[in-house]
Amino acid sequence: MMSKLRVGVIGCGSIAKHRHLIEYNDHPDVEIVAVCDIVEERVQEVAGIYGTKSYTSYEELLATENIDAVSVCLPNYLHAPVSISALNAGCHVLCEKPMATSIEEAEAMIEAAETNTRKLMIGHNQRFVPSHKKAKALIQSGEIGKIYSFRTTFGHGGPEAWSADGEKSWFFKKEEAFIGAMGDLGVHKADLLRYLLGEEFVEIASFVETSAKEKSTVDDNSVSILKTESGVIGTLAASWAYTAAEDNSTILFAEHAILRLEDDPVHSLVVQYKNGEVVKYELGKIQSNDEGNQTSSHVIEHFVESIKSDKEPLINGYEGMKSLEVILAALRSQETKTITQIGQS
Ligand SMILES: NC(=O)c1ccc[n+]([C@@H]2O[C@H](COP(=O)([O-])OP(=O)(O)OC[C@H]3O[C@@H](n4cnc5c(N)ncnc54)[C@H](O)[C@@H]3O)[C@@H](O)[C@H]2O)c1
Repeated sequence: MMSKLRVGVIGCGSIAKHRHLIEYNDHPDVEIVAVCDIVEERVQEVAGIYGTKSYTSYEELLATENIDAVSVCLPNYLHAPVSISALNAGCHVLCEKPMATSIEEAEAMIEAAETNTRKLMIGHNQRFVPSHKKAKALIQSGEIGKIYSFRTTFGHGGPEAWSADGEKSWFFKKEEAFIGAMGDLGVHKADLLRYLLGEEFVEIASFVETSAKEKSTVDDNSVSILKTESGVIGTLAASWAYTAAEDNSTILFAEHAILRLEDDPVHSLVVQYKNGEVVKYELGKIQSNDEGNQTSSHVIEHFVESIKSDKEPLINGYEGMKSLEVILAALRSQETKTITQIGQS
């Protein structure tokens, strides 16, 4: 029998607690060896639950422990430096999204993974959501024909109720987050649409505003119009100003059908065919911030499998960087008040 994968989790806030730690712990081929957080009580609590060593310095964790892989569950500005340190220490890295704060950082992460021949995966869990996977299969089969247009949204009331630090969270601070709802939620949909459409976005026109959060120094409400290489156009809205309920829906308008993803509370995929036929799929739930709605993201499973079988993860550094390019271009479009080329940062 192969020995277990020895894993460390750096950052013990909400995404670590709700997803990474739970899913590593459930995985039969994984042993969580060490955890790290700068908040002593937080890391002690997590180490107590999982019976691991605890660190308040990630440098110390990396220098001391003999581990195979780490999850980087930290504020955005730390993604690149910590991922690169971990890769240089010989660890495979699963880094949360958005991958980095600039293309230069993303490129440096990719280079560190290549130099050290380690896997680098970015936590874009939306690709593993059952309705999204089914839509991808329908598109690939050719059944719905050419896609003309889309409308995608990810919004909720904001990260105050989610982040370990509540209203004082790094999520609202430009120096640590670099971007707000567009980076927290919009990047997920940029990644999902790149995946579903199977091509890159080339142009974007965006309004990226701060509307709802008075003390925030980052955006909380944005709408972008996007165009792909082949001319598919659509809108992407990302918001922390959807006060009463979350909206995580995507609609694709195609030659033979309209696909409604996560738009109906019961049927996570509804396909309305041009001939009048409607097919409703009741698939597994999407993960949301709501308590009790953290079903398996399959992210950790995929990361572990890619290490075990030495295969490139579906969302590798390059994929993470291409999705990052979209949100960086949205910020440039807002600043310059122009339609902006994507990938020119
Ligand atoms: N894939 C998803 O669906 C998803 C969902 C939520 C968050 N995220 C991402 O996960 C990352 C973490 O977000 P979160 O929601 O867990 O935030 P959080 O605020 O709940 O937790 C962040 C943690 O990092 C710790 N930390 C900060 N600086 C540190 C340092 N130098 N060393 C060690 N620990 C440090 C904080 O003390 C805190 O416990 C972010 O990049 C976020 O975008 C992804």
